[in-house]
Amino acid sequence: MLGNFSYKNATKLYFGDDSLKYLYEELPKYGPNVQLIYGGGSIKRSGLYDEIVKILKDCGKNIVEDGGVMPNPTTDKLYEGVRIARDHHSDLLLAVGGGSCCDYAKAVSVSVHCDEDPWDKYYLRFEEPTCEIVPVGCILTMAGTGSEMNAGAVITNHEQKLKIGHVFGEDVMPKFSILNPRYTMTLPKKQMVAGIYDIFNHICEQYFSGEDDNTSDYLAEALMKSVIKSSLTAVEDPEDYEARSNIMWAATWALNTLIAKGKSGDWMVHMIGQAAGAYTDATHGMTLSAVSLPYYRHIMPYGLKKFVRFAEEVWNVSPDGKSDEQIAGEGLEAMKDWMKKIGVAMRLSEIGATEDMIDGITEATIILDGGYKVLTKDEIKQIVRESM
Ligand code: NZQ
Ligand code: ZN
Repeated sequence: MLGNFSYKNATKLYFGDDSLKYLYEELPKYGPNVQLIYGGGSIKRSGLYDEIVKILKDCGKNIVEDGGVMPNPTTDKLYEGVRIARDHHSDLLLAVGGGSCCDYAKAVSVSVHCDEDPWDKYYLRFEEPTCEIVPVGCILTMAGTGSEMNAGAVITNHEQKLKIGHVFGEDVMPKFSILNPRYTMTLPKKQMVAGIYDIFNHICEQYFSGEDDNTSDYLAEALMKSVIKSSLTAVEDPEDYEARSNIMWAATWALNTLIAKGKSGDWMVHMIGQAAGAYTDATHGMTLSAVSLPYYRHIMPYGLKKFVRFAEEVWNVSPDGKSDEQIAGEGLEAMKDWMKKIGVAMRLSEIGATEDMIDGITEATIILDGGYKVLTKDEIKQIVRESM
C-alpha cells in the first residue's frame, strides 16, 4: 500500500547541453560569497572550472576555493570545509563534480553554524540539524549517486573505519542542480560503469522491499530497463549523447525519493558495500557490485515472488515450464551477465579487500530492517566471505 504521504522535491533541475547558462539565473538569488567546491582537478582539465569562474565573476561574486574533495569525502576534509565557510562567511556552497562533492557540500552546509562536532551529531547520533543551513547548488560531472536531487551525504571516518550516510530532510537538498550529460563524457570508463551500477543498485534497494505491487515498482522497472539499455550503448560508445543523457536522468530519478514511496527500502547492499568502502576506500559503485550477487542469492528465498517478477519484467526470462526458484535464479544470472558485460567488479578481492578484513567489514555493517530478511551478523559474515 502506498499509504499517506506528502511529496515535494526542493531541488530545481536544469538539464541538457546548454544548461550551464542557468547559473546566471540562480546566482543572483544568493549573497556575494561563494565557496567553490570541487575534487582532484578533473574540472580544471576539462575547462569547466574556467567557465564557472567566469560566470561567478560576471555575477560579481567573491570566490573562495575549496578544492581537493576526495572520492569518499572524509571527516578531516569536512572540518576544513567548515573552517573555510566560517572564515569566508559563505552564502552559497557551489559543488562541481560527482556525488562526493555534492555530499560534502551538504555535510558542510549543516555544520557551518553547528556548535557540536558534526561527525558525532549527524553520523554517530543521526540527529537532525537545528542550526541555519547554508544553501547548496550542484553542477554535476558524474552520474550515479543521485546526490544532485536528494538530501543524502556520506562521510568516511578513516580513524574509526566507518563510512556512514545521513539522509537529511528536504532543507538540505540542493537548491538547484545543473545536469549536462556532456560533462560526464570525460569520465574514465571505470568511473562511468561504477556510476551505472550505483544507479541500478539504488533502484534494486527500493524495489526489493515490501510485499506490494504499487506504482513505485513499475517506475523502478522502467528505470532499470533504461539503465540496462543505455549502459550497453555507453560502454560501446561513451560519446553517445542519448545514452549518457538517459543514464544521467535515470540516476537522478533512481534516488530522489520518488520511487521510495510505498517502499520500506532494503539498503543492505549499500550497508555492506559502505563497510567494505571504509576498509578499502574503493570506488562506491564497485563496492556494491562486488557484494550484490552473494547478497541477492542469500535473500532470494525470502522475497521469491519479487525475484520472479524481476526476472520476467526486467530480464525477459521466460517462465515456461520452470519453478519459481529457477525463474528467479535465471534473473540473477542475467544480471550477472550484464554486470560482466559493462565491466564492474564482481569480487571484493578485486577492489583491495583481503581475508583479514572480513571480521571488520562484518562489524562495521549497519543492519537495517526494511528488506525481505533482517540479517544476523553471521549471515553478513557469510555474504562478505562469499563476496571475496
Ligand atoms: O575529483 P575529480 O578530479 O573531479 O575526479 C573524480 C573522482 O576521482 C572523477 N570525476 C568526476 N567527474 C568527472 C571525473 N573525472 C573525469 N571527468 C569527469 N567528468 O570521478 C571520481 C569519482 O568521483 P565521485 O564524486 O567520488 O563519484 P560518485 O559520484 O560515485 O560519488 C561517490 C560518493 O557519493 C556517495 C558515495 O558513498 C561516495 O562517497 N553516495 C552518495 C549518495 C547520496 N548522496 O544519496 C548515495 C550513494 O549511494 C553514495 O553512497
Ligand atoms: Zn549508492
